[in-house]
Amino acid sequence: MKLVHSITELQETLEAVRETKTIVFVPTMGALHEGHLSLVEKAKEVPNSFVVLSIFVNPTQFGKGEDFDKYPRTLESDLVSLEAVQPDLVFAPAVDEVYANGIAAPMKPRAGALGSVFEGASRPGHFEGMLHIVSWFFELIKPKVAVFGAKDAQQLFLIKRMVHRQFVDSIEIIEAETVREEDLLARSSRNRFLSPEARAYAPELFRALLDVQEQITEGVKPSVALSEARTTLTSEPLAKLDYLALVDKRTFATIDDDFTGVAQLLVASVVAGVRLIDNLTFYIQEPA
Ligand code: PAF
Repeated sequence: MKLVHSITELQETLEAVRETKTIVFVPTMGALHEGHLSLVEKAKEVPNSFVVLSIFVNPTQFGKGEDFDKYPRTLESDLVSLEAVQPDLVFAPAVDEVYANGIAAPMKPRAGALGSVFEGASRPGHFEGMLHIVSWFFELIKPKVAVFGAKDAQQLFLIKRMVHRQFVDSIEIIEAETVREEDLLARSSRNRFLSPEARAYAPELFRALLDVQEQITEGVKPSVALSEARTTLTSEPLAKLDYLALVDKRTFATIDDDFTGVAQLLVASVVAGVRLIDNLTFYIQEPA
């Protein structure tokens, strides 16, 4: 496992392997946990892989008042964790290396209308910053395959769309299943900020999604199941529900009670000051 910080070192290393290996990219912001390690494991399943993992806390995807300064930067312990899964290369650039023209330089708009709904409504500019950095990495590393976690559903949707539009589907995107704690809380770098009370409540978000799924599968109208779950989730004083929504997984458009096909439930809640998101994909059948 080699660690590089500069674009020059990265390119020298990649040039030496590009002809003979399949470059598989795993982007991260560090503060690595089991979820990230599972992304590396997925990446290593690609035949003849050369796995490049980036660690970069991207300033342009954090809005004003968000936790950019507070976001954990734990390079040393990240490298220790990575020993267990051994990516071939770790790329950990400094902000100036990535944003040579400064972080205020204009970015090409890529998120469109989806950039301002759900996560984008509460985090203006987040998806533009995220797509900017992912596209920057893609152009630099030129991977054949990239691995992203399913937990960030809207991020994954937008990345797949960008790969289709901007990279003419030249990069295969692998969607890695969300890794959960025993009580089903999705692993997240932000979980470390949860107080004991908030940590005890946090799994309720995914339980609510399972409950909505069960009701819809049993024939309850989606709008009714969602409304009941919203009432439950908003009654918790510790948490502020941001959204609970049901979308068509193929388009990310909100769906109505007549929908049949692959649906995705989305939830975001600020639990004692910590923003948590989760999702659940399932099939809605035509009523019998
Ligand atoms: O999901 C993340 O950790 C980040 O959004 C990503 C994809 C590494 C881009 O900064």
